[in-house]
This record gives sequence, C-alpha cells and structure tokens, in this order.
Amino acid sequence: MTTIIGIAGSTRQRSYNRALLRAAARLAPEGVTVEEHGIAGIPLYDGDLEEESGVPPAVNALKDRIAAGDGLLLVSPEYNNSVPGPLKNAVDWLSRPPADIRRVFRGKPVVVIGATPGSGGTRLAQTAWLPVLRTLGMRPWFDQALYLGGAQAAFDADLELVDPDLRDRLARLIAGFAAWAGQQRSG
Ligand code: FNR
Repeated sequence: MTTIIGIAGSTRQRSYNRALLRAAARLAPEGVTVEEHGIAGIPLYDGDLEEESGVPPAVNALKDRIAAGDGLLLVSPEYNNSVPGPLKNAVDWLSRPPADIRRVFRGKPVVVIGATPGSGGTRLAQTAWLPVLRTLGMRPWFDQALYLGGAQAAFDADLELVDPDLRDRLARLIAGFAAWAGQQRSG
C-alpha cells in the first residue's frame, strides 16, 4: 500500500482545490490511498505563540501524517502569481521546530498541482513553491504536471470533476507519482 498525504491549500467551502484533492483521492488506483487534509484550524504563525505553547496540535497531527506517508500532494491555489499565504503559513508551521524537518520533509517525494478559474492554471504558484520545497529538502516529481485553468468548467454544481480528459490526466498523475514515491521508499 502506498499512502499519499494530500493537503488542499484553501479553506473555502466551495474550493476548487479541495475539490481537486477529493477527485485525486477517488481516482487513486488500487493499492494507493490519497488522504485528504486541509489547513483549517492552523493559526497564523507567531513566534510568541510557539514559545508559549509550542506547535499547535493540528500542526503536529499533520506533521505525523506527512512523516508516515510515502509522498506529499500539495494542491495549491495561486494568489498574486505566487504561493497562497494560508498554505505557506501552514507549511511554515509544519517546518517547526527545525529539528523535525528531517523527520517530516527530508527526502520526501512531493508533487504540486492546483486549480484556478484563471487561465494560467496555477503555473506560477507551482513554480513559486520550488524554493520552499528545496529548502525543506524534499524531492519534487516533474514527470507529469496538472495546471487546471478555467476550473469552473471542469467541475459540476456538486464540485465533482466531470471533465473526462482532466479525470484521465489526474488519474495518470496520481498513479505515476505514487509508483515513484513507493519506489523511493523501498530504494
Ligand atoms: C486570486 N486568484 C488568482 N488566480 C490566479 O490564477 N492567479 C492569481 O494570481 C490569483 N490571485 C489571487 C489573489 C487573491 C488574494 C485571491 C483571493 C485570489 C483567484 C483564485 O485562483 C481563486 O479565488 C480560486 O478559486 C482560489 O482557489 P479555491 O479557493 O477555489 O481553491
């Protein structure tokens, strides 16, 4: 069994990125589980809060899931042609304390996908994540990419991914990434 930890970077009720993560979980092949996680309940990073009460429980729980998983699937919106603040804030918390970075992130396979109503398909956000992933010592997977632009047309009223071509591409991406991530674990 290969376990991929998915994190959607939007708390919006009708978030396309959450819907994309849900579709990824449903389209995962046999033998692959994509866990659906979010960033709700993670406070703004504050050094005083960390000093007084340590890393919040929601962050510690997610750190443990990432550490236990074979790979990380970041489903990221794009804000102002870059990474979205709320998801960056979550990753910043997840990188605390620095002594845990090795356990949680180092060498961990990661792939970034994203959805937007805009035409760019979150290309710029996906690129903007790279220095962060490098800093954390992760291993980004570049064999396939998914830039979902015009997202409103790809989902139905219940936020099911209905575009057949996108469903196919997403299924192939998850299968390919999971196979590679599984190999990294055993290799
Ligand atoms: C956006 N949006 C956006 N979209 C995009 O393709 N490129 C961009 O640079 C931006 N910039 C941006 C900034 C801010 C502050 C907001 C709030 C939004 C639009 C964004 O893609 C849209 O709101 C998505 O629906 C957000 O993702 P969820 O919430 O649907 O997952």
